[in-house]
Amino acid sequence: MSDTKYYAHETAVIDSNCNIGKDTKIWHFSHIMSNCSIGESCNIGQNVVVSPEVKLGKNVKVQNNVSIYTGVICEDDVFLGPSMVFTNVINPRSAVNRRGQYAVTIVKKGASIGANATIICGNNIGEYALIGAGAVVTKTIKPYALIVGNPAKQIGWVSEFGHRLNFDDNQKAICPESNQEYILNLEENIVKRIK
Ligand SMILES: CC(C)(COP(=O)(O)OP(=O)(O)OC[C@H]1O[C@@H](n2cnc3c(N)ncnc32)[C@H](O)[C@@H]1OP(=O)(O)O)[C@@H](O)C(=O)NCCC(=O)NCCS
Repeated sequence: MSDTKYYAHETAVIDSNCNIGKDTKIWHFSHIMSNCSIGESCNIGQNVVVSPEVKLGKNVKVQNNVSIYTGVICEDDVFLGPSMVFTNVINPRSAVNRRGQYAVTIVKKGASIGANATIICGNNIGEYALIGAGAVVTKTIKPYALIVGNPAKQIGWVSEFGHRLNFDDNQKAICPESNQEYILNLEENIVKRIK
């Protein structure tokens, strides 16, 4: 079932029934569990676990020491920083079996999660949001939001290229790298790209 045009280091373990896209690389000591779907051109670093049924889009970059638990979905172009942590049970108890009751967490297209950040399950991360190193995310995150701290708070907005957006009096901002243009809707407190 897997596309053979991906690369897996000889120490990686890939269980049955996985779909792995071409040009994806899976590095040392990583474990891809059954029924996963991993898109094209992904990079799965060292010591990464991808739990059963997980879906990763195209060009997802997973740094070392990340476990992506069942219930997590990462869309295209998501970046998961080193040792960041997902969760999938809100109230874990060793003696209570909650298998099959995993919360769903969607990391939307282009979002980045910094090193050592923790995502409390069920809180989706919006498109192109940037989560700072060490943040503990306890709420749903808006597209283009820049988030830091524990509990995580929004401190600004960022462009698709990861630069801070400074809005002028007309609520417009331009990314200094891409020249893409953004607008802040003050009423709804949301950002959209307009060019
Ligand atoms: C969140 C981040 C993008 C902010 O960068 P920035 O826009 O340059 O922000 P600044 O350094 O100007 O900091 C702005 C404020 O936020 C604070 N801050 C920045 N990053 C923070 C973080 N991760 N956690 C808590 N506070 C943070 C700063 O202390 C500063 O506070 P102050 O205004 O009270 O002085 C960056 O600090 C970060 O964490 N990047 C992720 C790095 C990472 O994990 N990379 C993984 C791949 S190696």
